[in-house]
Amino acid sequence: MELKITCIPGDGIGPEIITEAKKVLDAVAKKYGHTMNYTDILMGGASIDVHGVPLTDEAIETARNADAVLMGSIGGNTTTSPWYKLPPNLRPEAGLLAIRKALNLFANLRPAVLYEELAGACPLKEEISAAGFDMMMMRELTGGLYFGERKTFEENGVMKAVDTLTYDENEIRRIAIKGFDIAMKRKKKVTSVDKANVLDSSRLWRKIVEEVAKDYPEVTLEHMLVDNCAMQLVKDPAQFDVILTENMFGDILSDEASMVTGSIGMLASASLNDSKFGLYEPSHGSAPDIAGKDIANPIATILSAAMMLRYSFDLDQEADDIEAAVKRVLQDGYRTVDIMSEGCTQVGCKQMGDLLAERI
Ligand code: IPM
Ligand code: MG
Repeated sequence: MELKITCIPGDGIGPEIITEAKKVLDAVAKKYGHTMNYTDILMGGASIDVHGVPLTDEAIETARNADAVLMGSIGGNTTTSPWYKLPPNLRPEAGLLAIRKALNLFANLRPAVLYEELAGACPLKEEISAAGFDMMMMRELTGGLYFGERKTFEENGVMKAVDTLTYDENEIRRIAIKGFDIAMKRKKKVTSVDKANVLDSSRLWRKIVEEVAKDYPEVTLEHMLVDNCAMQLVKDPAQFDVILTENMFGDILSDEASMVTGSIGMLASASLNDSKFGLYEPSHGSAPDIAGKDIANPIATILSAAMMLRYSFDLDQEADDIEAAVKRVLQDGYRTVDIMSEGCTQVGCKQMGDLLAERI
């Protein structure tokens, strides 16, 4: 099979981790007789430096013409980088928001898994972490506060700023359907998270999610208020299977969910549209402080590549191989510095990529 993949190395550690992901994908291609056809595009600060904007129309078209997009990370140090002296619509993050919108990537999947081998890194008490957890954060990605009307203005000599949280029923329905579809392949439980005790957008969210649930009688649906969910994630994360929520809540809760795993360097993500097309990226950021030092953990990006094989190309066996290689490398005691513990062998970004490619 020929796989047409657009890569976005991006900023910070992005280029290093994408190189290692390609290394592992190439090993998969060799084993199974696939052809990987990569085209790199610039996004974020890397694009600003060359084109003056964080994403060009040509880059969007290149991505649109691929079967899937594999991204490293974008952005720099927000206090010291000159990119953050630019107006908000020209900063690195604007490129990411633009590509999500342009490619209609409304469904963001962020698995948060406690790896047995890394249980020691979990910041929760042992009596909580002992139960283990494996949840899928499903975040709506192209609506809500991120894309509503916003402005800053002066009224009667007082500065004011407005952001708008808007959802229509179709936007809620399509993400809810994806959420229930994914729950059907997992433990068949959906926790829909909202703030229905205060917000109209949340009350509509709840109503539509309940309508969608009727088509999935095997799936248990529960509603949870977002503030309670923030608590439950640290109190009893094992209760969750699929968490379904709007854009801003999902942004915050997905960081919390990844933190409680203790190994954010291991967490993948996928942003999908209505078809098989998706953008795959690690859940972590560009870590500019460690860029270029060959110490970044490439595993989250490599697991994102596995998600790409699974969701965009239906190559389940190949994806399983990558996930199994990750498990084996951990069992063999290799760790990058972020997940290092006593008695293990510390390796750099490149060597981790080599060790994984060898195990394919
Ligand atoms: C994320 C990030 C982005 C977001 C930023 C970089 C715009 O935090 O993917 O979670 O808020 O969506
Ligand atoms: Mg975020």
